[in-house]
Amino acid sequence: MRYNSRELSVMDVIWNAKYAKVTATYVDWYLSYTQLEPILTSLLSIYGYSCEILIPGCGLSETNTPIDVGTGLYSVGYRNITNVDISNVVIDRMQKKQLTSNTNDTMEFVCLDVMEISRAVPPNMFDFIIDKGLLDTLLCNEQTNIEDVFTYLKAMYLVLRTGGTFVLVTHSASRLSYLEHPNFVWKVIRENQLDRDDRSYHIFSCVKS
Ligand SMILES: C[S@@+](CC[C@H](N)C(=O)[O-])C[C@H]1O[C@@H](n2cnc3c(N)ncnc32)[C@H](O)[C@@H]1O
Repeated sequence: MRYNSRELSVMDVIWNAKYAKVTATYVDWYLSYTQLEPILTSLLSIYGYSCEILIPGCGLSETNTPIDVGTGLYSVGYRNITNVDISNVVIDRMQKKQLTSNTNDTMEFVCLDVMEISRAVPPNMFDFIIDKGLLDTLLCNEQTNIEDVFTYLKAMYLVLRTGGTFVLVTHSASRLSYLEHPNFVWKVIRENQLDRDDRSYHIFSCVKS
């Protein structure tokens, strides 16, 4: 993915500040890769190992056990994985981690505001997109609003190819109403509900028609 450097936005600053405080070796929101692996690999099986995977708002994870979603999918054979995050603190740390692992042939970490992804990649580029916590972040943040949520979903819809799948991992089942908006022609399926630390998380898959 080619993307030119840009000026920091309010959101970069907010997320960089959050991550700068993180000294733990591992940070993960929601469900772990291990919990998600059976669902993700089952949904991915129709696309084959060379499919193009996008992980928007990839976040941070700096040890191998547990592992982040991108590294987890790499470890089971997927190679074309693009991890994107608005925070350059996250991307720098993940790139450094990658230098010491054996994942650096085709897995990318890119600092990018996903709202602007269509400036960086052509439409219909990805077979599979995994959002773990980003849509929720946009909805929960004071700096963003419903319009931003639709800008984000439209951006994901545009770069997803017909027949591709957008997966949403969220803490609220009510997010279904955004996915089912008439802007998007895709088949939405409610996958499992999984628990972690006494909280429930919902997984939706959307297959673009
Ligand atoms: C709740 S965290 C989830 C991180 C990771 N997916 C996980 O499950 O641990 C949300 C992530 O989205 C990133 N983010 C927020 N707004 C973004 C945007 N507009 N473009 C790209 N990344 C963004 C943040 O920097 C943060 O890493």
